[in-house]
Amino acid sequence: MSKSSYIGVFDSGIGGLTVVKAIADSMPNENIIYFGDTAHVPYGTRSKRQITEYVLADVKFLNTFDLKAIVIACNTADSIARAKVEDLYDLPIFGVVDPASKRAAEQTRNGKIGVIATNATVNSGAYDTAIAKYNKDAQVISVACPLFVPLVENGRFSKGDIVIETVAREYLDPLVEKGIDTLVLGCTHYPLLSDVIEGLYPDLQIISSSGAAADTLRQSLEASELVSDTDDSIRKYFVSDDADGFKRQAQVFMGDTLGGDVTQVSLE
Ligand code: DGL
Repeated sequence: MSKSSYIGVFDSGIGGLTVVKAIADSMPNENIIYFGDTAHVPYGTRSKRQITEYVLADVKFLNTFDLKAIVIACNTADSIARAKVEDLYDLPIFGVVDPASKRAAEQTRNGKIGVIATNATVNSGAYDTAIAKYNKDAQVISVACPLFVPLVENGRFSKGDIVIETVAREYLDPLVEKGIDTLVLGCTHYPLLSDVIEGLYPDLQIISSSGAAADTLRQSLEASELVSDTDDSIRKYFVSDDADGFKRQAQVFMGDTLGGDVTQVSLE
């Protein structure tokens, strides 16, 4: 393992790109391998056994590269299968739930934190446990938003889009009525909805699990003197289903900063 080794990042689909973007924004010289398990998205409506099986296949694939860290860029995977990944791999493993929980626990002013996430993440109680670790008095109100991931995967994340705004109100009005001052986007697909959510609820403090995760990764790489200093960063993207569809979607979000080819691979 060296400074120029890859950071391996994975998610069920396009959502983990919000973490890649956050990493690239704060550490532009990093070499990154991304895997999006687009053949199996969404993870968040599946059983623990199935999610764990997919996650282990994702990590096994990433581990075929020279890695210096693995980033579980998926709250669902992090909530359900992180312990298993840590057991099996002798690599620094970073997630999204703990960094976002810490930030929300520290930043809430009235102690009422809303968490929106997939069914699997909400049912796991991972956010309740992690937020309580940092702020035992915080009240956590979680809501599963199963329609968000398919809408984001289908490009419905623009401000003014009546479909996404109607669905967002349906999920978020009850949280706002309960008085939350802080909202954790507990799914890496959801930062793509930031504009929509900020437009609807300008007073809410929004915490992105993707941004929080990238900051934690940077602190750790700095502490272990593993921040890359190469001039040309390499980025490679792999998906388990249609590469062209992924690329089109990814470019809407990442623009030119995608910075690498997208290749379809089979993990079977
Ligand atoms: N982006 C993922 C997350 O952070 C998973 C969404 C899904 O596949 O359901 O939870």
